[in-house]
Amino acid sequence: MEGIDMTGVALQLSVVIPTFNEVGNVSVLIDRLTLTLQDIEWELIFVDDDSRDGTYQKLQTIAACNPRVRVLRRVGRRGLSSACIEGLLASAAPYLAVMDADLQHDENCLPAMFQAVHAEGFDLAVGSRYIEGGSTGAWSQQRVSVSKWATLLSQKILKLTLQDPMSGFFMMRRSVLESAVYRLSSLGFKILVDLVVSSPQPLRIKEIPFHFGLRVAGESKLDTRVAWDYVMLLADKTVGRYIPAKLISFASVGTMGVGVHLVILGTTKTLLAMPFVAAQSTAVLVSMVFNFYLNNLLTYRDQQLHGRNWWWGLLKFMLACSLGGAANVGVANYLYGNDGWWVLSGLMGILVGLIWNFGVTSIFVWPQRGKP
Ligand code: GDD
Ligand code: MN
Repeated sequence: MEGIDMTGVALQLSVVIPTFNEVGNVSVLIDRLTLTLQDIEWELIFVDDDSRDGTYQKLQTIAACNPRVRVLRRVGRRGLSSACIEGLLASAAPYLAVMDADLQHDENCLPAMFQAVHAEGFDLAVGSRYIEGGSTGAWSQQRVSVSKWATLLSQKILKLTLQDPMSGFFMMRRSVLESAVYRLSSLGFKILVDLVVSSPQPLRIKEIPFHFGLRVAGESKLDTRVAWDYVMLLADKTVGRYIPAKLISFASVGTMGVGVHLVILGTTKTLLAMPFVAAQSTAVLVSMVFNFYLNNLLTYRDQQLHGRNWWWGLLKFMLACSLGGAANVGVANYLYGNDGWWVLSGLMGILVGLIWNFGVTSIFVWPQRGKP
């Protein structure tokens, strides 16, 4: 440490806050946190996914004169969990918190959470809506029941005992992150589930009740696709060791694509009286577009293509899948020639085609580095 000035006061808490279009909330949030965290040495790390409403610019202006605030900007990327993880990895304190930017998480819980992980021997403190003293606030009946179902699923499938594993408001010791980091799925919205399940040792967890607040500025990014992401997270956490979640998603979309194919084939053949070859070709085309559309929306939501890139992606997708189709027929035909068992040969053909399509499109259509 020679040459480095270590005389400053050591940081105790890093708060990571994901943002997407939250320009109306961030100043108020920083003011409130400054008040609440008076007795703690803290820093804030905002992770912004290239918001269109000027959130990043606003945060940058704040960070330029407030040394407790930093902002990380990601371009061509989306995802609440992955944003939180990257923010956590950029932090420096021994205790780490995650909270929303939209003032729905009650910052007054932070000192009690800090007490729990710093002084009471807990590894993790969770802001909980489902224990005595907490509530979901003004949620619609529908959202409450969806959230309850999601909670039940993770309690049954992942054997979690937490009352509110869906919470996005929590604080932990740094060791929790360090020991889970290589196993994290980084998928979707549910970072807490991901962290708890990825921890090699059982965690000592304290749940602290809070009332989920109202959103005043901006709007929620939670939509039905979040449910798909959640199922993918569950899949990744159970069979993900053997099969990548994106492949499961790709294959599920493909299965729906077969349904679309059959419907189109049926209608063009019977209702429009098209010759079989024309009907089958139409069905192939439509189902390719369907597959591309849904994979772009669901499987590759974090790297979604838009505008011109969408059309270019569609073209590449169709090319790749045509080759995949040829590989499918080639393999199936070869196997059939050897054993004469059509079901197995057909299925093996499909498997080879699926893996080809998935592999090639993941490299050429949705490459890892995104474009803004
Ligand atoms: N960087 C980044 N990228 N931030 C995002 C993204 C994204 O793709 N999507 C949402 N956010 C940010 C929002 O700006 C907000 O600060 C926070 O994540 C939560 O997003 P909301 O859209 O407000 O979610 P919500 O209120 O419907 O859901 C919250 O409550 C649920 C129940 O506790 C979240 O905390 C969920 O994780 C939580 O399950
Ligand atoms: Mn919210």
